[in-house]
Amino acid sequence: MPLKPVRLEPIAFCPLLVGNWKMNGLGSAVAEAREVAEALRAEPVRARVAICAPATLIERLARAVKGSALIIGGEDVHPEASGAFTGDVSAAMLADAGARMVIVGHSERRQAYGETNALVAHKAMAALRGGLEPIICVGETLAEREGGHALDVVCRQARGSAPLASDGMAFSLAYEPIWAIGGGQIPTRNQIEEMHGALREVLIEMFGVPGGVVPILYGGSVDQGSVANVLKAREVGGALIGRASLSATEFLSIVRAAE
Ligand code: 13P
Repeated sequence: MPLKPVRLEPIAFCPLLVGNWKMNGLGSAVAEAREVAEALRAEPVRARVAICAPATLIERLARAVKGSALIIGGEDVHPEASGAFTGDVSAAMLADAGARMVIVGHSERRQAYGETNALVAHKAMAALRGGLEPIICVGETLAEREGGHALDVVCRQARGSAPLASDGMAFSLAYEPIWAIGGGQIPTRNQIEEMHGALREVLIEMFGVPGGVVPILYGGSVDQGSVANVLKAREVGGALIGRASLSATEFLSIVRAAE
């Protein structure tokens, strides 16, 4: 009997859109996340949407958005599981509070606290072991870009900061050029595609076939006007959004523009 041909449906592109609240947000900010969660409930979107927030808010946020599609995450994690590390927060603590993701190696931490690639890789491993999906940030300074070293610097960061083994566990990479963060200029589509293409090669070199599907997010001055164009760029699997994620209205306008 002849075999019936199987029709493969195209896999829908489902970007990951992550708000990074940084050191912003008191109890009153829970209402913003609740508004995002309610909107996602009322009009489901073809994107995974997350808010990474200060540790003090995670439990309240997780409670407020429970049952919705909105994912809550942390902004940093300690590489050890527990112990004498005053002021730090472990992956298990974040997960216990309701987080499902965590940002590691953001340039603001690399610059302010001298976080190295090795430390970031340990944080990523700790996150995976603790059941959290890490978003590993990389990005070059303006001087490095102008000196023609951007690709080298960022690929070296990615090689050094990726988890040593992921064993099929999910993580993302986020390319955030430091010069584009906080209202700076946004890179051209060519610049984004060149960097994301190079990062894809690094991921495949490190993880083989699974490295081909690790989402590579872009971050830095993403807003309602730029998000659609950013997501159209080759090898861009989502966006990391700072300032514009603080207000539910603005963040939702980005989520809707991403469709
Ligand atoms: P902005 O969107 O405010 O430029 O911040 C980007 C960022 O650092 C997200 O992690």
